[in-house]
Amino acid sequence: MLHGGGAEAAEIAGQRLSRRHFLRRAMLAIWGLSTTSAIAGALEMLYPNLTRKFGASLTVGAKSVFKAAKPDKFVVNQAGVFYYQQAKTYIVHLDRATHFLLKGTDLSDQFASETIAKDADGSYWIALYQRCVHLGCTVPFRNDCLSFKCPCHGSHYNSDGEYLDGPAPRSLDRFAFHFQGEDLVVDTGVLNNRVPPPD
Ligand code: FES
Repeated sequence: MLHGGGAEAAEIAGQRLSRRHFLRRAMLAIWGLSTTSAIAGALEMLYPNLTRKFGASLTVGAKSVFKAAKPDKFVVNQAGVFYYQQAKTYIVHLDRATHFLLKGTDLSDQFASETIAKDADGSYWIALYQRCVHLGCTVPFRNDCLSFKCPCHGSHYNSDGEYLDGPAPRSLDRFAFHFQGEDLVVDTGVLNNRVPPPD
């Protein structure tokens, strides 16, 4: 055991050493945390399917949850049009009695090019991206005018997202989607931005 000045010096040196250990460990911990979160962020960007976030294929629910309706009977989240926040999507489910101007092959071609699916029960499905194609505001569906109206600069889209008027350059974009058993899966990484305005 050291006495006097030697013991004091040894104690101070010991304290410095443990402080250095502590600082080194803290820095390593911070470095480890930031590296982990950087890797997680990169993985999330590159492979959104791994994290089941926007950009991935997302199961939005059982088809039976989304009650079909004709456009003049739409009520948001009750009939015909449903908002699913995680996918930033409006699910549009049109009743089988919905009237279309085209018929036969013309109608099938239009469905294919506009990302509309006809279901076995004769109803029709669309998955609309919530983002206004003017400057990106979220567009709400308005029960009072049975259409989508952007609160930012007034762009106006009909009940299936087709452009009607306002500064937007085109119709609302649509996501690819498919059915998986009884579930509806929206692929939020695949966007159709070539939907023309209504005839
Ligand atoms: S962002 Fe929607 S009208 Fe401008």
